[in-house]
Amino acid sequence: MKTIVLTGASDGIGAAAARQLSAPSNRLILVGRSAEKTRAVAEETGATWFTADFARLDDVRALAAQITDAVGDSGIDVLANNAGGIFGDPTPTVDGFEKTMQVNHLAPFLLTHLLLPALLRSRGAVVNTSSIAHRLFGHLDVDDLDNARRFSPNKAYGDAKLANVLFARSLHTKFHADGLSAVAFHPGTVQTNFASDSSSIMRLLYRTPLKHLMLIGADKGGATLRWFIEGTPDETWFSGAYYDERVLTTKVNPQVDDAALAEALWQRSAALTGIRP
Ligand SMILES: NC(=O)c1ccc[n+]([C@@H]2O[C@H](COP(=O)([O-])OP(=O)(O)OC[C@H]3O[C@@H](n4cnc5c(N)ncnc54)[C@H](OP(=O)(O)O)[C@@H]3O)[C@@H](O)[C@H]2O)c1
Repeated sequence: MKTIVLTGASDGIGAAAARQLSAPSNRLILVGRSAEKTRAVAEETGATWFTADFARLDDVRALAAQITDAVGDSGIDVLANNAGGIFGDPTPTVDGFEKTMQVNHLAPFLLTHLLLPALLRSRGAVVNTSSIAHRLFGHLDVDDLDNARRFSPNKAYGDAKLANVLFARSLHTKFHADGLSAVAFHPGTVQTNFASDSSSIMRLLYRTPLKHLMLIGADKGGATLRWFIEGTPDETWFSGAYYDERVLTTKVNPQVDDAALAEALWQRSAALTGIRP
């Protein structure tokens, strides 16, 4: 039996993957923000479910405690950090951070750390849903993760998705020798609820009839996420790598290869989320 924790499971790519992963051989633990939507997907798939708003780090801490309790000694085989999105103005969260960076990176960073003992017990894998936006719009400055100097929704989103890639790479560097694997991927340009809360130009693509021409269906994006979740690390995909859908690609943001930046991001994220070294 494989224990799979999947965030962003109440809608879009995550919900599609959850439906495809529903099988007696999988123990699914689904996480969403909306209780109503998460319960509906959990009922359909026979999963355990929890809710948390990633814009509140205390919710993430409570979620990690609930998941740890639910899995007991059995460990976690896969943590899929899939919740995320692009948002509007730079409204700070209750924790004082810019929302895009917190929901897409700081919250999953914290959740992953709190679940690390269970992941290491199972020699598990962390799968981060990143985006091609990491390459198109990302340019990280660890001294300004909030983009306080000059904010745009696209830049904030690109930075957060670049952080997903660097985080997977750092998990690999630090823990692969202990059996943990990590990967980041772009799921395709997928017709979901994505960009519904955003003032970004991307709204045009995702929220107008253009979507029928330009975007792939949620089932296809979900199938790609499923492929990573069900895959065997270092056979199906390489730990530490970034994939464009299922294709290993060298088309990455140049900052992806900056090991010092990856380490600085790790240290800064740990300090901001209260993780001790
Ligand atoms: N669609 C694309 O073309 C595309 C392309 C590249 C990458 N991605 C990435 O794919 C992932 C899934 O997105 P999607 O396209 O499936 O979008 P979606 O349909 O909007 O689903 C987003 C999921 O994330 C959850 N979520 C959003 N804000 C949250 C918060 N504050 N706290 C906790 N959960 C939150 C949502 O929960 P509720 O519904 O319960 O609020 C939902 O389950 C995201 O990381 C996104 O960046 C998408």
